[in-house]
Amino acid sequence: MKVEKNKSLRSYNTFGIDAKAAEFISVDSVATLKQVLEHYKGEDIFILGGGSNMLLTDDINRTVVHINLKGISVVSEDKNEVVLKVMAGENWHELVLYCLEHNYGGIENLSLIPGNTGTAPIQNIGAYGVELKDVFVSCEAISVVAGELRSFSLEDCKFAYRDSIFKTRLKGEYIITSVNLRLTKTDHRLNISYGAISDVLEEKGISQPDIRDVSEAVIQIRQSKLPDPEKLGNSGSFFKNPVLTSEEFQAFRKNHPNAPYYEVSPTEFKIPAGWLIEQAGFKGKRFGDAGVHDKQALVLVNFGSATGKEIWELALKIQKKVKDSFGIYIEPEVNIV
Ligand code: EPU
Repeated sequence: MKVEKNKSLRSYNTFGIDAKAAEFISVDSVATLKQVLEHYKGEDIFILGGGSNMLLTDDINRTVVHINLKGISVVSEDKNEVVLKVMAGENWHELVLYCLEHNYGGIENLSLIPGNTGTAPIQNIGAYGVELKDVFVSCEAISVVAGELRSFSLEDCKFAYRDSIFKTRLKGEYIITSVNLRLTKTDHRLNISYGAISDVLEEKGISQPDIRDVSEAVIQIRQSKLPDPEKLGNSGSFFKNPVLTSEEFQAFRKNHPNAPYYEVSPTEFKIPAGWLIEQAGFKGKRFGDAGVHDKQALVLVNFGSATGKEIWELALKIQKKVKDSFGIYIEPEVNIV
């Protein structure tokens, strides 16, 4: 177990924040992870996955354990379906590409989402009408305190919009080591209901798309709106889209009849936070090296040397203006560390 001291985490978080870890250990096997947990028993350690959904507002004066478990294997398969076991440290988009190569369908709409497979269940990643829960079978996770592996079924995970038991009741208690996904080998269930996907396919003259076409359409849409973290630090959507009750929604619609919305259920209405932030005047605004992306106001960006604190101050300013203008609270989607 190699311990690095005072290590910069800049290349370990997609915001590109130059915070430091007092100690840093990268683990590449479950056995090593168990040893590390045993060694640091009782101490407050920090678990780091792909670093794509967090904002580091300060140095971490603790031991950072980087989950670097690799491997993809077939658990079971028949003519129609395959169940894959994917280790937590596998990059999510590389997994999508692997599935396309093997003609495994189900996660093509989730192309180009930054981060690792092991962190995907924590916030139930989702895009263009598909969420992780739609292909999720189970995951294995190790308890931080007891060091024991446990399997979580779909039901155990309590998945909801950008939410799971790992963000709520069991927050910080388990480290996901692998995820099992059920994917199709034939009769892929394409999900092209999301307007922008069907538009792109139509533009390209594709009337009978396959999973590759859908992935390419998603990549095209994402690249046109969302900044590449390699070029411009960001963490995807910074806020969740707020969900209003029918009463709140009626009141909101009265004042803003042209606002876009999605009906989640007859009593729940989701308003795009990007729209609220744009209306509040923040789209494309820059404050030092912290800013709001010019093509999607839901994304906060680091133009180079912004600190996590500066990004967080900007987020709080946005949150307050949206609350004052619309009476709606927008909750961060990223973890504030
Ligand atoms: N909009 C604006 N201004 C903006 C951005 C959006 O007015 O600057 C309005 C537009 O009316 C647009 C609508 O918001 O039609 C919806 O925008 P978009 O299709 O980009 O989706 P979103 O609701 O902003 C969500 C997810 C994204 C996901 C897309 C596509 C959340 C918090 N975000 O964004 O997820 O890619 O839908 O499914 O649910 C992420 O989680 O990091 C992420 C990028």
